Amino acid sequence: MVHVSEDKRALRRRLVAARRARDPEARAAAGRALREELMSLDRMGIAGTVAAYYSVDCEPETHGLVLALWKHGATVLLPVLLGDDDLDWGAYEGPDSLVPGPRGTYQPAGERLGVDMVRRCDVVIAPALAVDRRGTRLGRGAGSYDRALSRASSAALTVALLYDDEVLDEVPAEPHDRRVRAAATPSGVRWFD
Ligand SMILES: Nc1ncnc2c1ncn2[C@@H]1O[C@H](COP(=O)(O)OP(=O)(O)OP(=O)(O)O)[C@@H](O)[C@H]1O
Ligand SMILES: [Mg+2]
Repeated sequence: MVHVSEDKRALRRRLVAARRARDPEARAAAGRALREELMSLDRMGIAGTVAAYYSVDCEPETHGLVLALWKHGATVLLPVLLGDDDLDWGAYEGPDSLVPGPRGTYQPAGERLGVDMVRRCDVVIAPALAVDRRGTRLGRGAGSYDRALSRASSAALTVALLYDDEVLDEVPAEPHDRRVRAAATPSGVRWFD
């Protein structure tokens, strides 16, 4: 498996460099398009509880999506990064409910709800650097979302958010890697089931 993790590292470097080359307006535009795509999904409209994330750096913008989900009436959970890279969860209660977290992140200021809260989510929105045509997901390399996705309900919609050119033919995978059921890009949602 050593070669797979090296392949992942090389692919991450390339993808992060490409993301950094995008200008802020492109990130914001991608975020607006993703918000439209996701909010128009039937599954999102009826979701009671959604695990989302608050974008940082050169990720496609998700702040507007998080606000839209909350205004729509969903219970929106955001991750709280733990010391072992696992994810705890807290409720988003509007932009004022966030405080700065590690590595430039923002985290919910309120109660920590526990790593198992993700089991109750109807939708799990995951960050990713790439997804392949089978739904194999490449993240930043902590395994945080492999752990969270392994707890998600089999009925949940698990969806990664990406720029258009990050849906690849094949992404290197190890046994612990968890697939997503869909990838949302500014040009639409692809389903892998
Ligand atoms: N279920 C797990 N329990 C404990 N550690 C795990 C688990 N899954 C993955 N990891 C750890 O995370 C490391 C990185 O995993 P991987 O390269 O798949 O990250 P990633 O999927 O790119 O990142 P992320 O999921 O955080 O976005 C693995 O080498 C492993 O040590
Ligand atoms: Mg992984």
